[in-house]
Amino acid sequence: MLLRPLFFTSFLIDDQLADQELIARGPIVISSASSKTAIAAAFLLAQREGVELLGLTSRRSAEFVNGLGIYARCATYDAIDSLKREPATFVDIAGDDAVRLAVHSHYGDDLVHSMAVGVTHWEESGAGESQLPGPPPTFFFAPDRVRKRSRDWGGDQLNRRVADAWHPFCEWTGGWLEIVHGQGFEAVQHAYLEVLDGRVEPTRAHVLSL
Ligand SMILES: NC(=O)c1ccc[n+]([C@@H]2O[C@H](COP(=O)([O-])OP(=O)(O)OC[C@H]3O[C@@H](n4cnc5c(N)ncnc54)[C@H](OP(=O)(O)O)[C@@H]3O)[C@@H](O)[C@H]2O)c1
Repeated sequence: MLLRPLFFTSFLIDDQLADQELIARGPIVISSASSKTAIAAAFLLAQREGVELLGLTSRRSAEFVNGLGIYARCATYDAIDSLKREPATFVDIAGDDAVRLAVHSHYGDDLVHSMAVGVTHWEESGAGESQLPGPPPTFFFAPDRVRKRSRDWGGDQLNRRVADAWHPFCEWTGGWLEIVHGQGFEAVQHAYLEVLDGRVEPTRAHVLSL
């Protein structure tokens, strides 16, 4: 219940990047690399031959992201300028205006594709830049990809592929993800405020019941 809905999104991100052959056109640069959606997408992409994954994250999450062992490289948001300039694809899960501008400015016309997935940095997300260097960000909408793959493969085949990919991922997270269970109003309120204040470590997740 914790990871499965987001895993489906990650499966579709991995599938789209492969389907559009973006994985063969330079590194895949993923922002908010410590988010669950990013981790699951990176886990799947890392299994594909020749894919280079670059995780962008905050200073507070850098050690955790490096320790995951699925990103070939990890850089903090303030070090985007120091990355090698080369063709690359941006998967934006942070939705942070400053990070998006830094990535687009750094790669410029070398940016092959910019996929807007999420907004984990909701406080840093505004109207966005109207004039970004490189290709305009394209919104990733999971239901559109579900419709496409249901047409291509059929619903049963899509579900089978997701299930096949899910089990190894689920097993892998058991090695580092601590699940905190809680029950009742106070437990829910406490967890809610912890998440809101950014006090939940990326290695912890809550499963709660009122
Ligand atoms: N387009 C679609 O179809 C679609 C589908 C599903 C989900 N989404 C979106 O994808 C995004 C990712 O969701 P998720 O559930 O995977 O996120 P999550 O695991 O809850 O992500 C948490 C991340 O947010 C960042 N963060 C920002 N401010 C923080 C703070 N104060 N404290 C702690 N962390 C903070 C951290 O990443 P860093 O430190 O690495 O930046 C952290 O690892 C969401 O915005 C969701 O809405 C989109």
